[in-house]
Amino acid sequence: MIYMNRALSKLNAAKKALEFVEDGMIVGLGSGSTASYFIRFLGEKIRKEGLRIKAVSSSLESERLAKGSGVEVVDMNNIKKIDLAVDGADEVDENGFLIKGKGGCLTREKIIDYAAEKFIIIVDESKLVKRLGEKNPVPVEVIPFAWRLVKRRLSEDSSLRTKDNNPYVTDNGNYILDVRFRRIKDPVKLEKDLNSIPGVIENGIFTRKPDKIIVGKSNKAFIK
Ligand code: 5RP
Repeated sequence: MIYMNRALSKLNAAKKALEFVEDGMIVGLGSGSTASYFIRFLGEKIRKEGLRIKAVSSSLESERLAKGSGVEVVDMNNIKKIDLAVDGADEVDENGFLIKGKGGCLTREKIIDYAAEKFIIIVDESKLVKRLGEKNPVPVEVIPFAWRLVKRRLSEDSSLRTKDNNPYVTDNGNYILDVRFRRIKDPVKLEKDLNSIPGVIENGIFTRKPDKIIVGKSNKAFIK
């Protein structure tokens, strides 16, 4: 039941985000289950309303889904701007700061979300937290060459993400360290500090505040 409600909440948040899509836009696509609902709905909207929308994708999986849903996906290097990015999140704190990257797509997500003129986050209520790090570790994408060295540099509890007993490999060919912080006092500083470690590509603290946070419930969605 909880699982069903959560799925409905994600779906409602994704549907609400469609209200911000306009003809002619270049849309940045997030990754994960909530973003996947949005991608499917976007495909339907394009078909029904005959919209001219182009998209850039934050993961190979979202790209496949978008293409299969009738959304034209273009290369990031062939566009000059992103009008709107719509993405999910693992945690949203009271200031609108985020933890992202449970799906392993944090680097491309951050590139797209930070570059977009308008940035919308779509989540279910379970993602709202008082303080970042309450429920989730912070994913840190590292180049495989340096993962042990980076792990040693992090004083906090960290573990190499694995899949089928092998290191999990991102779309960029890198590894992920999941770092558990006891207390994240200053997300802006932490985001910068983590990225200053040689070998770190990007981390899952997002301090570009979303222009809108859409929170889905099982029967509706609201803008926080
Ligand atoms: C992937 C992400 C996702 O947006 C995040 O994990 C939320 O996923 P879901 O919508 O499935 O709960 O950051 O890297």
